[in-house]
Amino acid sequence: MDDLQTKFIDITGVEMGFHTKKGVFQAQGIDLAVRKGEFVTLIGHFGCGKSTLLNLIAGLLKPKAGVLLCANREIAGPSPERAMVFQNHSLLPWLTCYENIHLGVERVFGASEARAQQRERTLTALALVGLSSAEGKRPHEISGGMKQRVDIARALAMEPKVLLMDELFGALDALTRAHLQDELLRIVAATWSTVVMVTHDVDEAVLLSDRIVMLTNGPAATIGEIVEVGLERPRDRVALA
Ligand SMILES: Nc1ncnc2c1ncn2[C@@H]1O[C@H](COP(=O)(O)OP(=O)(O)OP(=O)(O)O)[C@@H](O)[C@H]1O
Ligand SMILES: [Mg+2]
Repeated sequence: MDDLQTKFIDITGVEMGFHTKKGVFQAQGIDLAVRKGEFVTLIGHFGCGKSTLLNLIAGLLKPKAGVLLCANREIAGPSPERAMVFQNHSLLPWLTCYENIHLGVERVFGASEARAQQRERTLTALALVGLSSAEGKRPHEISGGMKQRVDIARALAMEPKVLLMDELFGALDALTRAHLQDELLRIVAATWSTVVMVTHDVDEAVLLSDRIVMLTNGPAATIGEIVEVGLERPRDRVALA
């Protein structure tokens, strides 16, 4: 594999700091390379900087020092090539599921593709998350798990190079959560996505990821142990339990 494949996301010497009510939060010496098509989870205690690292990759924050690259280009700001799926879903309440997804499609492909093609992309994304029948429903008419799936569909429809997820399933009940994890496994396998996901759930990390990256909370937060999850894919929750 060439460098671009093994260092699809390439983070070197990143430093970050915030003044918080409880003092200064400091993260230092953050080095991490993510392969193309790899699924990495970030895990660690409350406030150790997981969301901060994800936001840096998303381009929503700028580091105090160090460099973040994606596909050999410096991450200089947010871009649809790095789609973030937020925990508290960000669907527009007055738009249908179809329209919410289509918004993302138009943003990325509006200038380059015909309407029919864009429609096709939107419908494909809906089908991918198993929500074809909810096409015309508005967010208040569907469950929390379904909203989360629409969010994922919207991100995927933009064909991002990287999918970023921050404790996506944290607010869901155990059954919905298990179902969505299975769905995510299937989607990631089908789309060869590169994923960085924050979670508090070790079981979830083992089920979904290729590597688990532990953040230590410091005095200065940094990357601690990294564990390779050597389990064959496709993975099966029941077989792992
Ligand atoms: N934009 C910001 N401005 C100031 N302080 C911030 C900002 N974002 C995060 N912090 C602080 O930086 C520290 C790390 O926050 P971060 O949200 O990255 O932690 P986390 O690991 O995601 O925590 P949690 O598990 O609670 O989600 C915290 O002390 C937080 O209060
Ligand atoms: Mg967080």
